[in-house]
Amino acid sequence: MLVNHIYDTTIDYGKRVNKSNRKKIGQFFTPPAVATYMANLMEHNTSTIKILDAGAGTGILAGALCERILEQSNINTVHIDLYENDENVLPVLRANMELVREVLEKNGKRFSYNIIQENFILDNSDYWNGREHREEESLYDVIISNPPYKKIGKSEPESVAMSSVIHGQPNIYFLFMALSAKLLKQNGQMIFITPRSFTSGLYFKKFREYFLNTVRLTNLHLFHSREDVFDNDKVLQEAIILKAIKTTQVTDTILISASENMYTGERFIHKVPYSTVVDIESDNLFIMIPTTRDEVQLLNMMKNWKYNLPSLGFKLKTGPVVDFRADEFLREEEVENTVPLLWSNHFSNNRITFPVPASKNPQYILNTEDSKGILLDSKDYILVKRFTSKEERKRVQCALYIAENFPYKKVGIENHLNYITKLNGEMTREEMFGLFAILNSSYVDTYYRILNGSTQVNATEMNSIPLPSLTDIIQIGEKVMDLDSITVEFCDTIIDEMFIVTRSRKRNVV
Ligand SMILES: C[S@@+](CC[C@H](N)C(=O)[O-])C[C@H]1O[C@@H](n2cnc3c(N)ncnc32)[C@H](O)[C@@H]1O
Repeated sequence: MLVNHIYDTTIDYGKRVNKSNRKKIGQFFTPPAVATYMANLMEHNTSTIKILDAGAGTGILAGALCERILEQSNINTVHIDLYENDENVLPVLRANMELVREVLEKNGKRFSYNIIQENFILDNSDYWNGREHREEESLYDVIISNPPYKKIGKSEPESVAMSSVIHGQPNIYFLFMALSAKLLKQNGQMIFITPRSFTSGLYFKKFREYFLNTVRLTNLHLFHSREDVFDNDKVLQEAIILKAIKTTQVTDTILISASENMYTGERFIHKVPYSTVVDIESDNLFIMIPTTRDEVQLLNMMKNWKYNLPSLGFKLKTGPVVDFRADEFLREEEVENTVPLLWSNHFSNNRITFPVPASKNPQYILNTEDSKGILLDSKDYILVKRFTSKEERKRVQCALYIAENFPYKKVGIENHLNYITKLNGEMTREEMFGLFAILNSSYVDTYYRILNGSTQVNATEMNSIPLPSLTDIIQIGEKVMDLDSITVEFCDTIIDEMFIVTRSRKRNVV
């Protein structure tokens, strides 16, 4: 009832205020079903509770927690701090918190709240940076938040204040997460709804290091649909709800659940070993979110693959020819001193078909003294598309560039493609076909989707994908290198046979 009332005031506020202004400050509101779901994750056993709602908006998350507290007779004293620095929304927030007070007091609870009209990050930056001491009592039992989602510059004050968790492009949402982890009491819990992006990617690595060493994840819920979570606001991001506890105790499992959107029921709910979700031993500290039992099995199988491209002496790199920067070297037709320039439209049946008729892209590039820095020696490469569309069946799409089919000394690889090369010397045919068969399997494709919800195929993630030993790879290569066509199904079958994957799993792997 509190939540529904607050949501009505939110809708009303949303109608009055310019949407693009809200977007500028990262103001997207949580719908009631999500707020209630998040509040239901709270577990608290003592009689007093100190709560923080960071980026409170109209107060729906604090309201949802209070609605839950009404059901908990053990809690009798509630204090909530609410950070919100948009003065337009403050009157609504204040009115809503007065209503919360009225309802809680009517139900015999002691209630106080404090709206802090400050920038959450800057107001706590001295504490974050160790310039200020705070007693345990001033910290929080529960922090709930739908933090603002907004890219910010590295020189903006929030980024400067929290530079220790920044590597590359910062987004204010993960600064809210890191600071909240710091502001929790020991055994305190944080419940957040955020984009999924922090779970992988290089830009979030320093953040993951801090976060995963400060709190332990206990619950993750993934919304598959990008569009339906913030229904009125069209946020095109896969969203997750997470709960994490500040504890030094080892938790063995994480409860993972998933649904299409907030209106459909959970279609997967499963306790997954912590080490399957967070690979604490790897440098990248990626967070894997398997959302079917088969995906959990797949992760467990691939845990036995102890290598990756760099550790086997290979590397996936991004094509160095950026068309608009290399404009002066690009040619539509073959002329003297030109070599092939490969794009994704040269992919055909896992091979490179070159040239293609009526290409929309220039297919040749001049091989001159000035362009040699962006050209590669014409050697055998495995090419991997960097961009796929959401509708495409496969995320990891590879094609073989077999140098002997191309009578050129050099080749250009356009920037929308990645290529795999051997760091010292040349890939043998067995190595190339073996690696190709593994990367072309539905298993690696599924692994990539569990790792990264986006449609981009990034070098950091691809270089971290677990692989079997080089001996196994060569053995696979020998089995496929003489085939005319190497289907995904055939690659799967070989992996099944060699690594004893249960057949039942295959049915569900997309
Ligand atoms: C994504 S909205 C969520 C609002 C509300 N908690 C909800 O769930 O509907 C984030 C809120 O944080 C506020 N905000 C943005 N940057 C902030 C900052 N640096 N400090 C405090 N609040 C901030 C915005 O004005 C916005 O109301």
